[in-house]
Amino acid sequence: MSILIDPKDDSLNRVVFCLEKNGIVAFPTETVYGLGGNAYSDVAVAKIYKAKNRPSVNPLIAHYKSASVALSKDVISNEIAEKLAENFWPGPMTLVLVQNHNSKVSNLATAGLKTLAVRVPKNEVAHKLLSMLEFPLVAPSANKSTSLSNTTAEAVCSDFSDIEDLFVIDGGMCNVGVESTIIDVSIPEKITILRYGGIAQEQIEDVCGVKIFKHENSNMKPIAPGMMFKHYAPKHELFIDQDDCDSDDAFLDFGSKNLHLKNVAKMYLDLSPANDLYEAAHNLFNMLRILDGEECARICVAPIENVGIGIAINDKIKRASGKIGRV
Ligand code: TXA
Ligand code: MG
Repeated sequence: MSILIDPKDDSLNRVVFCLEKNGIVAFPTETVYGLGGNAYSDVAVAKIYKAKNRPSVNPLIAHYKSASVALSKDVISNEIAEKLAENFWPGPMTLVLVQNHNSKVSNLATAGLKTLAVRVPKNEVAHKLLSMLEFPLVAPSANKSTSLSNTTAEAVCSDFSDIEDLFVIDGGMCNVGVESTIIDVSIPEKITILRYGGIAQEQIEDVCGVKIFKHENSNMKPIAPGMMFKHYAPKHELFIDQDDCDSDDAFLDFGSKNLHLKNVAKMYLDLSPANDLYEAAHNLFNMLRILDGEECARICVAPIENVGIGIAINDKIKRASGKIGRV
């Protein structure tokens, strides 16, 4: 059983104590909930991999309280990284940089890579927690490996019911709803998006002033080790780009475009009746989770505009449908 922590009272001190003793805790960020532990502790990091059933070749993101600490403590920064940090931190962006010789980050957390993924979350609770600690937190999304990411504390508790006395800080539903955009800036001449997420490619290109390398299709060669794995696998079969369904299906609409299916589908939800991609991202994992909990034949998802944050949404649902990513 998990222990829900209210971040408003002083029980956050219990969480800090646990982390200082190499324990792991789940905490909210603006993207999805993370399962955090001391980035400098092999013991804590090993607990994270075990709790998630995560392959040890898949490295973790280190979370810092501020951009200045994130770019100075464990990595070698550069001009592009500073520029991106200035514009998007705190926020849903992760930068991959080469580790510096002072880096104390556990080799388990980086899967032995010379690079490290760093991020400064934009969430009051996450910021408060990181400010109370003497070390950064490595934190993958707080879900079992290959399952849907979680955007509520309740969903995290249910995924990790096998872990006794896991502290789960309840920060309500995550704002952004999809994970951070991961950008490899370790070679400034070849800035590459490794994972689509909360910051859109156009926003990054505007700041960098250069075109960014991206992957065009579902046969993309994965660069972020985690991208090659099966992801977001719901229990039910999921079909994308649908405008119809049967009476025993669940339907996930976008922009009320298939409202008539409300009377056809076994269950009908709309990611954003107002046709707003940010609202759709915010609702995505929670609604998929609700529909996946239903007794239905399949989950059908309406087409979602493939621009801006829509690219990240489509990437997630394609992976959930088994169209990208194999174990
Ligand atoms: O929004 C997020 O990024 C959330 C919250 C909790 O911060 N975290 C998250 O972590 O999504 P995770 O572990 O679920 O995904 C991290 C991804 C993986 O695909 C991993 O392979 C990649 O980041 N990654 C980590 N370190 C890397 C590195 N040095 N080079 C390339 N990819 C890296
Ligand atoms: Mg994840």
